[in-house]
Amino acid sequence: MKWFLLVLAALVATSASAKRLRDRIYKDLNSVSFCFRRTNGTHQFGCTSDPGGNAGVVHLIAEAADVDFLVERGEHGPYVAAFTPQTFRKEALLRLRQSDKLAGALLLYPDPDDLDKDLEKLFAGPPAAFSDDQVCPNVASSLYFGTDDACDEKWNPRGSGLMYEDFDFPVAVIRGSNTTRLVIEDCYRAFNEPLQDGVEREWPLCAMELSSHMYAAVDTETCLRRGDILNLVNPVKFCDEMGDYNNFLFSAERNSSNGAKEESVIVVASRLDTFTLFDLNEFGGDSPVTGIVTALELARMLAKNPPDFQSKVTNVLFAFFHGEAFDYIGSSKLVYDLNNMQFPDEANPLLFPHGQQPPLSLNEVSMVIELGQLYNVNDYEKLFQHVDKDFRHEELLQLMRKRSQQNDLSMSLSGRRILPPSSLHSFLKSRRDVPAILVSDYDTSYTNRFYHSIYDDAKINLDYKKSRGTNQPVVQRIGRVAQTLAEFVFEEASGPNALMPIFQPNHTLINELLSCYLETASCPLFLAASNEDTPPFYSAVSPDSPWPQYVGVDFKAQFHGILTRNVLVYLTGTDMNLTAPDCKADSDQNVYEYVFIKGETTPEWWDNDVSCKESPYCGYCYRTLSFRRRAISPAFSGDFTYDYGYGRNYSAWAESVWKTMSARVFLKASPSLEHVHFAVGMIVMLLSFVLVYLADNNTDKLFPNAVVIGTAASSGSSSEGNGTSVATEPTHL
Ligand SMILES: *[C@@H]1O[C@H](CO)[C@@H](O)[C@H](O)[C@H]1NC(C)=O
Ligand SMILES: *[C@@H]1O[C@H](CO)[C@@H](O)[C@H](O)[C@H]1NC(C)=O
Ligand SMILES: *[C@@H]1O[C@H](CO)[C@@H](O)[C@H](O)[C@H]1NC(C)=O
Ligand SMILES: *[C@@H]1O[C@H](CO)[C@@H](O)[C@H](O)[C@H]1NC(C)=O
Ligand SMILES: *[C@@H]1O[C@H](CO)[C@@H](O)[C@H](O)[C@H]1NC(C)=O
Repeated sequence: MKWFLLVLAALVATSASAKRLRDRIYKDLNSVSFCFRRTNGTHQFGCTSDPGGNAGVVHLIAEAADVDFLVERGEHGPYVAAFTPQTFRKEALLRLRQSDKLAGALLLYPDPDDLDKDLEKLFAGPPAAFSDDQVCPNVASSLYFGTDDACDEKWNPRGSGLMYEDFDFPVAVIRGSNTTRLVIEDCYRAFNEPLQDGVEREWPLCAMELSSHMYAAVDTETCLRRGDILNLVNPVKFCDEMGDYNNFLFSAERNSSNGAKEESVIVVASRLDTFTLFDLNEFGGDSPVTGIVTALELARMLAKNPPDFQSKVTNVLFAFFHGEAFDYIGSSKLVYDLNNMQFPDEANPLLFPHGQQPPLSLNEVSMVIELGQLYNVNDYEKLFQHVDKDFRHEELLQLMRKRSQQNDLSMSLSGRRILPPSSLHSFLKSRRDVPAILVSDYDTSYTNRFYHSIYDDAKINLDYKKSRGTNQPVVQRIGRVAQTLAEFVFEEASGPNALMPIFQPNHTLINELLSCYLETASCPLFLAASNEDTPPFYSAVSPDSPWPQYVGVDFKAQFHGILTRNVLVYLTGTDMNLTAPDCKADSDQNVYEYVFIKGETTPEWWDNDVSCKESPYCGYCYRTLSFRRRAISPAFSGDFTYDYGYGRNYSAWAESVWKTMSARVFLKASPSLEHVHFAVGMIVMLLSFVLVYLADNNTDKLFPNAVVIGTAASSGSSSEGNGTSVATEPTHL
């Protein structure tokens, strides 16, 4: 009966080595970003995997024919289709989805400069055009909703609408060149690439497992409600309302203790955000960065040479709206607050006895100028003014054009008298007669070929690189727009006796700002604008890439918005010459705020052992008329019960909760072989039960000398233990 012990030992040994083998053949992938699920008031969008992840055989889609191959001939599915930027198309995804052979999809988008010749060809460049957004962005919240003007002609003709699809499999992007190489060379080419004659290779094949299971489903109302119900027993969230903060800056101090009088305010608006299909890949060159940088430079110039406000106009409000890409979250909140007399805060003499900003009303907005998309390599080398068909102030348009001519900037009135998607819709939906002008780089449809996609970047879409200096077209363009609008606003907001100052755009500054928003957030200007609430002193170090420009759901640490506010303070605030501990504005007023930021040099008062560079408490205290207010949809304000189904009054976007997002590759044996393994495992298990039974009954023969020490029962239970561990092993194979 010695053979029995040998078999047992062998089984234990193989089970252990199978475990080690498993660890060896799974390879985790880094730098993978996933598409995730969002909901609006009535629909769900995005991507999800099964709870345990989806796995499929990797197949490269290098040309259109590869899609045909999978759909018509592929026999080793389900597949994970790996696309190149040239082949990643909505039509291909939909076709594969319909074939039911897709476990997941992958876009490989490495920097071609990091690849060797052989792979470089595959990733030669971006597609000719691509946009994740719809042909009519934000159509559901358009001023023209329900009429022909809402989406008769397409503002975004390259819009694929991919963001508005609902995929029940994971979709992800890989941007690292090492990971791309691993997927293409070590996985696909080594095991899967069909043979010369187009015949599929045989098992084992290289497969990929993508895990990105989403908790939210159906629509925002449903997922919030589901979360609420379960919250009572078990604090699980299924989704979060989207939103962040708007940044604001007034040009002139507002203090109602000095007597409240009717105001007349020019609003200069820009948007802070963009979206793309993939998490943490929201960087937009033409939209929103050209607008943000222009607004910052304009604010700086007007802070240096403010209007005298001796005309009808009493103030200028700079507004940086967040969440505009999702049905105008930020601007709809401002308009809601204006209508409810709670911007910037409700009147409250008890809370602010020493100075309160009078609540502003929408009727006191005398004009809104919005800075839209302002430069891309494909535009007409000129700008366009857009207005609604009810606009009645031609003289404003002419004055702006006159100023632009003087600054060598070609500007004309758009051929379509309909407002393109813009924050202006939020204003006009509530008060149609606000004079509202959008300035942009397109006439009747976007010149931006990459609106709301990962290709709207510095290199491809703006042809920008900081090291090329201040003569780059995008830097010059922004300088001209800022100067033109500074003169225009100054003229509108000053009395007849005011002398027009010389507004000098700082091209060095514009160049640095572009670099911070598009190349790397660890840039000198963001460092100068940092403090204890921002990197590198708080939370993460600044990344090599820019900060994502997605509105998100986290109201604490969206550094894109926080740093934009700090830069605004840095460029427009007044240095109070105070130390960090003393940098506190009186809390019984809301007229101004104090913000401590690092600055570029060591202040005189600093005499500390720590070098200034390393301390967030070494810097400058600025008094500022800027402030942040929540950008959250009025639908979520809790002030009223929102009708999600009717829905078009306010944004109702929510983002799903997820637990993991991960990707790994492994060698997959033939499914029939897996069945054999399982069957063998079952047989081994049954066999081991039989053996244990036999052993139990033959203990005296097996261990002839153990009569005194062992009992039948104890030796039986120990061998049973081994039996179980062997028996469970086959499920791992
Ligand atoms: C990519 O691989 C090379 C060579 O193995 C290595 O030197 C480099 O650090 C890797 N890059 C990244 C970003 O991991
Ligand atoms: C606001 O105006 C009142 C009255 O002139 C003044 O006493 C108060 O200090 C002002 N508040 C601020 C914060 O400037
Ligand atoms: C322009 O901006 C740069 C970068 O912030 C700054 O160093 C320089 O002093 C500015 N130039 C002028 C004339 O203000
Ligand atoms: C949600 O999005 C879909 C697709 O764009 C749209 O048809 C629908 O009207 C939207 N719902 C709301 C309430 O905006
Ligand atoms: C939508 O807004 C309009 C105008 O502000 C209002 O009259 C209407 O009652 C609102 N509808 C819903 C369903 O909230």
